[in-house]
Amino acid sequence: MKHERQVALLKQAFEHIDANTTPMWDSLYWNPAERYTCPDHFRLEMAGLFGGKVPLLAGFSPDLPTPGSWFTCELPGAPLFLTRAADGSVKAFLNICRHRGSRLVGFELDAEGHFLQHRGQSHSAFTCPYHAWTYNTGGKLIRHANDMNGFNQLQGKIDSGEFNLIDVACLETEGMLLVRPQGKEPIDAQRDTFGMHSRMGEFGFGNFHFYQEVFWDFAANWKLLIETFMEGYHIAALHRNTLAPKFRCYPVIYECFGPHALFPLTRKSITEQRDRPESEWSVLKHASTVFSVSPHAVLNIPMDGHMELWDFQPLDVGRTRARVRFYIPRPVQSEAEEARWIKSWKVSTEVISGEDFTQQQNIQINLATGRIPGVVFGQNEPLLSHYHRELGKLTGVPDAQLP
Ligand code: FES
Ligand SMILES: [Fe+2]
Repeated sequence: MKHERQVALLKQAFEHIDANTTPMWDSLYWNPAERYTCPDHFRLEMAGLFGGKVPLLAGFSPDLPTPGSWFTCELPGAPLFLTRAADGSVKAFLNICRHRGSRLVGFELDAEGHFLQHRGQSHSAFTCPYHAWTYNTGGKLIRHANDMNGFNQLQGKIDSGEFNLIDVACLETEGMLLVRPQGKEPIDAQRDTFGMHSRMGEFGFGNFHFYQEVFWDFAANWKLLIETFMEGYHIAALHRNTLAPKFRCYPVIYECFGPHALFPLTRKSITEQRDRPESEWSVLKHASTVFSVSPHAVLNIPMDGHMELWDFQPLDVGRTRARVRFYIPRPVQSEAEEARWIKSWKVSTEVISGEDFTQQQNIQINLATGRIPGVVFGQNEPLLSHYHRELGKLTGVPDAQLP
């Protein structure tokens, strides 16, 4: 983040700290319970948010370090994989073989039916595990051997590309990988991120290295999991033994870019620098910088220099698969460095999955009883109101009236 931007954010934070205030939303915001529990509402979300209208953040350039590298990106109705072609460009394909529909990469399952492999390296082609139809990294069907000429009648269509992998629009920009789950309308970074891509790009994502990832399934609506990242109000209570000793609940200074937002969650140490010259001020050393990349991803950049991408795959209205990826600024070079990243990984994942997501699962159980009509976001939780209002614009569901 540019230094002058950090100074501006800090000045704003210090003003709020002096006045014991925080940026406030213009009114309370009411969110009916069915937005977390109703299958019809869930269907509207899948169509409006994941149906191709808006591009989504799929990952970062370090997810595809070399030509032929690939990773899977599971979206509702769009099991995708992204790969880097021989010319260095990034492509996104449906992970569906055009013969009889097998998954093409990352097809092995564990005993519980979860996919085992989410990334890998191919050499020059992707070969289907079922009958070995083979596609090059540009998605072109290049081989269907051992078929006893059983597809001769299809040869014309094969030659004209009709049985190539189905691709969707994707874009690599500022070290980010954006993908459109359906359709080929080109992605425009400025238009589709409302300019946030350049703010994110200041972090130099292209220079990071993928470290590790984990997937978890939670019995909670996908939006509940995202909401945990969007306010500091809960830190004092829910995280009283973990984050609260170091982090401030308030102020949550934020900046919105269309449906997306940037907000540093500040540490108590942030005020220590007030008496030093502005040239020495830093937000990044005293905050976790969070980007909400609507609708389904949150990027957290804590002080220690790594970054973590949390994204959420809605499975059904009350079930969500969370994926967290850790990226580090350089490959691990010593045992001490490795130990540091392991510790950092443990802290982030244990607090967020063990405290936040456990909490959200108990909310889901309660909302599903239908015994309360909805939930209310305070004016001190502005990013929740902003997030839901923006989702409503895409699903066609306007703000609800406070009962
Ligand atoms: S399903 Fe892929 S080769 Fe048969
Ligand atoms: Fe939290």
